[in-house]
Amino acid sequence: MTTVTLPDGPTTPAFVQAVEILAGRTRAWRRLHAKYGSAFMVKMPRFGPTVVLSDPAEVKALFTTHTDLVDNIDANLGQFLGPGSLFALRGEEHRKERKLLTPPFHGRRLAVYESLIEEEAVREMATWPSGTEFATMDSMMRITLNVILRAVFGAEGAEFDQLRTLLPKLVLVGSALAALPVPRKLFGRFGPWARFARHRAEYDRIVQRLIERAAADPGLSERDDVLAMLLQARYDDGSAMTHNEIADELLTLLTAGHETTATSLSWTIERLRRHPHILGRLVAEADAGGSELREAALLETQRVRPVIDATARKVRAESLQLGRWTLPRGQGVMVSIRLMHDNPELFTNPKDFDPDRFVGKRPGTFSWIPFGGGARRCIGAAFATMEMNVVLRVLLRDFTLETTDAPDERAHFRGVALVPAKKGRAVVYRRAPRTTSQSVETGENQDARGEQVTA
Ligand code: HEM
Repeated sequence: MTTVTLPDGPTTPAFVQAVEILAGRTRAWRRLHAKYGSAFMVKMPRFGPTVVLSDPAEVKALFTTHTDLVDNIDANLGQFLGPGSLFALRGEEHRKERKLLTPPFHGRRLAVYESLIEEEAVREMATWPSGTEFATMDSMMRITLNVILRAVFGAEGAEFDQLRTLLPKLVLVGSALAALPVPRKLFGRFGPWARFARHRAEYDRIVQRLIERAAADPGLSERDDVLAMLLQARYDDGSAMTHNEIADELLTLLTAGHETTATSLSWTIERLRRHPHILGRLVAEADAGGSELREAALLETQRVRPVIDATARKVRAESLQLGRWTLPRGQGVMVSIRLMHDNPELFTNPKDFDPDRFVGKRPGTFSWIPFGGGARRCIGAAFATMEMNVVLRVLLRDFTLETTDAPDERAHFRGVALVPAKKGRAVVYRRAPRTTSQSVETGENQDARGEQVTA
């Protein structure tokens, strides 16, 4: 018989720990990390006793263990997104489904989406007020929602507009519910569960229509939207996905794909406004047609402000050896993305916002982990990275972002994502149109008011 070896942790009652975690998981876990080191045990609301890891070797071991031995926890987003969602599937079923869902988001295909991202960014930013402070998050959410809707369904239409209104409501109520225990009798007539069920039923009505229409489209094989690709995809045994499976997966992509990306963009604005020197260099780089520092700034924003601060697994094997620990079947394990990114042995002066640490240097697969890792790593990572790059490029090209010495925005937990508490406030001025050669020659960056923006 194997002996279970678990890390230490506080012995305070579960409700006390729950209150501490709900009051601020980052602060609570940083305190536990200081006391117990890179692995500790907590009593998590909903999940029960959970091992929290942040040691790179142990996290690597967890992420690279086969999903027959360690896989997703039961209480995950799949509860809301449906039994056919990638989040809900486990083991072989998850592997089969992921194989069909990955190709639309493969690096090679991303160029197809680039122009629509630029179009959506330009369209939304045209509504930005000049010289008046505003919260960028709602705007970023509109950009990323339109982008993912167009990537998923292709052409726009009446249903597209209905989904544009419906999905933010579904995400809002779904995020709020994700933090709560699921009642035994799901979806009564009143309250947030009932509201969620109504939104979901409406989603199903709209999306089933879109799926049926696409399935009957004689030009399906010419289309490059995700729905068209899923309708034509085949499992290894030659069978197709059912329409219900497709509906669940599309909802998964639509919801997982827009709030996270929008939040990261708002954090990027929040960070850049407080780092004028970096902002000035980014503007100069964009004017000269470069992108290296911009890519590094996006990596660094996701390091210092990961929108998802932890990812979770459950031991499915009889027992699992992870570095110093031997975990029993059923043990919940979380990887703290936040604590990993705080580690001074992995990132010098980890509290500093320093994009240069990633210039000319790719981040480590098991140390820079805003997209999680292993067989369940985010399938939209390359898509989100490209999208954020294009949106930030448009912003730097078309606007002057005013810097600020206001205090940092705090992180506010919205059920799934950690968002800037003031929704990433910004003041912008539209830049005068200019030629590339002009800016390359002078190296100067002036806004529409003719002011120098470099610090
Ligand atoms: C900055 C934006 C994003 C962030 C920070 C993010 C983060 C994450 C994280 C942390 C996970 C869990 C990984 C794990 O458990 O190891 C995840 C899973 C997932 N994400 Fe993302 N994500 C982003 C954008 C997207 C986009 C654009 C899409 C789709 C187009 C997407 C689709 C998914 C899906 C389907 C999963 C489940 C994967 C699985 O269980 O196999 N995400 N994401």
